[in-house]
Amino acid sequence: MNFFTLQWQDSSVVMIDQRKLPQEEIYLSFKTAEQVGAAIKDMVVRGAPAIGVAAAFGMALAAQNSTAENHDAFFKEMNDTAEMLISQRPTAVNLAWAVKRIQNFYQSSQDLPLLTLQNMILEEALAIFEEDCNMCIDMGVHGAELIKLGNSYLTHCNAGALATAGRGTALSPFYEAKDQHKKFKVYSCETRPFLQGSRLTCWELLKNNIDVTLITDNMAAKLMQEGKIHGVIVGSDRIVANGDVVNKIGTYGLAVLAKAHEIPFYVVAPSSTIDLETPEGSQVTIEERPIEEVTQLFGTPSAPTDIKVYNPAFDVTPHHLVTAIVTEKGIVYPPFSESLKKIKS
Ligand code: MRU
Repeated sequence: MNFFTLQWQDSSVVMIDQRKLPQEEIYLSFKTAEQVGAAIKDMVVRGAPAIGVAAAFGMALAAQNSTAENHDAFFKEMNDTAEMLISQRPTAVNLAWAVKRIQNFYQSSQDLPLLTLQNMILEEALAIFEEDCNMCIDMGVHGAELIKLGNSYLTHCNAGALATAGRGTALSPFYEAKDQHKKFKVYSCETRPFLQGSRLTCWELLKNNIDVTLITDNMAAKLMQEGKIHGVIVGSDRIVANGDVVNKIGTYGLAVLAKAHEIPFYVVAPSSTIDLETPEGSQVTIEERPIEEVTQLFGTPSAPTDIKVYNPAFDVTPHHLVTAIVTEKGIVYPPFSESLKKIKS
């Protein structure tokens, strides 16, 4: 990759400011957990695995900045930070997963001196970062098997390097297929209202010389009708026990369209996105975002000021519309209630 999404550098977290892309490539440095929490809420960093890694680094910052004089005070500070970080965005399970992993780590290492514990929390956060990079590579290798010579694939939102610590989930198979010298095309949905598709996916695919064409979200049906799409490949914010897939708003519509046109619908996600504790997609809290995302275009009003607005950031694709799920451990097929359990065991 010729850019990075987030990194630990000299006792701070450095992140590319995704709100500014594609116009400006700016990196911001964060020195406290509160700053990292705000960066997650404000979408400086976004994408399920990336916000998980960012939150893990946020926990490491809290540990490093702590002035607690005993273990009880330290654990209270850390648990408060954990709650603050998890509350920033409710839908992607990776955020809570990463924070809870750090919590489990210090709760099971209570005998260690505080300084050792503080350093080891950073080590654990760095391990989460490294593992995410490796999972991206493995998802790419497995997913590239689905990319056939000369075919065209539709993707939605951004599930690329910008959404992870590594080279992405749904976009990683494209990077791998390119490394294998396969020829293929990608269509990227614009992804209203936050435009992750046009601003981020197009930016990173172009930067890496992948053949990408931008469409607005309402053009997908026509493209499929014309026979121009051979597969839909998306990421996920949470895959629940029965295989329902929670992802960026608009994903469900694409899955229905894919079914109607007999096009395979693939989801690529690391095992940290699989949430076996939630039985069905309808039980997941769907984040609603500020109405200005819908009523304004780059700060200019695009709707009457007193209009009522509904702005859910994610939707649920029922498992029966999903052809296969690609994880770092391989490709799994229905019935997902069984195959996902094997992946997580
Ligand atoms: O609101 P966002 O930009 O955080 O939403 C991101 C998505 O919906 C992605 O498709 C998902 O997190 C998978 S990213 C590897």
